[in-house]
Amino acid sequence: MDRFRYIDRSGSNAEKYTLRKKLFGSETVEPMWVADMDIATPECVIHAVQERLLHPVLGYEIMRDSAFEAQMQWVNDHHGFSIKREWLSYSPSVVASIGCAIRAFSEAGDEVIVMDPVYPPFYSQVRNNGRQLILHPLKQDREGKYRFDIDMLRSQITPKTKLLLLCSPHNPVGRVWSHNELEALGEVCLEHNIRIISDEIHSDIVYAPYRHIPIASLSLELLENTVTLMGPGKTFNMAGFSISTVCIASEELRAAYDEEVHRLHWGEGAVLSHVAFESAYREAGEWHQEVMAHLTRNRKMIERVLTDHSTIVFHKPEATYLAWLDCRALGMGNSELRDFFVHKAGLGLSPGLSFGREGSGFMRLNFAVSTAVLENALTGLSKALRDA
Ligand SMILES: Cc1ncc(COP(=O)(O)O)c(C=O)c1O
Repeated sequence: MDRFRYIDRSGSNAEKYTLRKKLFGSETVEPMWVADMDIATPECVIHAVQERLLHPVLGYEIMRDSAFEAQMQWVNDHHGFSIKREWLSYSPSVVASIGCAIRAFSEAGDEVIVMDPVYPPFYSQVRNNGRQLILHPLKQDREGKYRFDIDMLRSQITPKTKLLLLCSPHNPVGRVWSHNELEALGEVCLEHNIRIISDEIHSDIVYAPYRHIPIASLSLELLENTVTLMGPGKTFNMAGFSISTVCIASEELRAAYDEEVHRLHWGEGAVLSHVAFESAYREAGEWHQEVMAHLTRNRKMIERVLTDHSTIVFHKPEATYLAWLDCRALGMGNSELRDFFVHKAGLGLSPGLSFGREGSGFMRLNFAVSTAVLENALTGLSKALRDA
């Protein structure tokens, strides 16, 4: 029996429901946008929090070494990346850490490479911190696999280019970057003294036979040149705990990053998050495997249904529970496409254009839902496509 439970989150304060009216103008649309799951957070996490609450004082605490060690063990076991305790620090948010790293390792007016399409805060963190975006378009090859173009990337670099924001695995296109791809990217960055900020929050939602490779694990030089951002939010469906970690091996980079963190004074995090984090990494391995099996089945169901419809092209993601639907053959503009999904299919998805120019004509569907919800959503979509 599955060790996880599907939860109907309507009526809870889940963002995917509470923002429906604002985003889609409808309270009835099936929300399949924000990247969390309709699956109960592992029981061991809930128990750890309940147990902590038996102590009546919830004062300041710092994260225990044992919590960091639980994550180090997980990352070593799953990704073969051996991390030292002193490289890790707490962060309340991967996105906030991206902002901190941008400020720590570049100056106003410097350029930051961002691949388009990508998770929208990548753009806003660069812009809002007064840096310049260098947009590197990801393009699909003949098999529909998204690739970056290393020669083009080289030609985009100028003396002001200081950082690369890497999304690995990639949201929204679902790529797990291969050893060769990461090596080529790393080489260019090392040649031009460009620091790498690698957001690896999706690294545990990877489908066989793909394997996530932390770019920092490729060589000593890349280890010294990279800031790796990881967290349990996606892996164990516990984004509401606002807890993640930053891994910086280079003492020099770590000192610069820590200075930024002190300026912000975000502290050491919440007591309940600390225990939740440790128990997830230590005890939720089987839960995670079963969730992966479920997501694999859902991914297959989308493929099966959409092969019947030539107007939406779907390539199974190598990672993430996000389906990147190529709807260009429908011949609709972006707002018409959004309206089609909301009003004809009854689905609230993330518009591709919100991930950048290269996302025009695409929609992103979160399939970390129950089989029944997904079946229903795909039936609605199939009917809307037939009527279109
Ligand atoms: C690539 C990526 N990075 C970061 C986040 C959010 O991380 P946090 O909530 O820790 O800021 C998300 C959430 O969807 C994401 O997809």
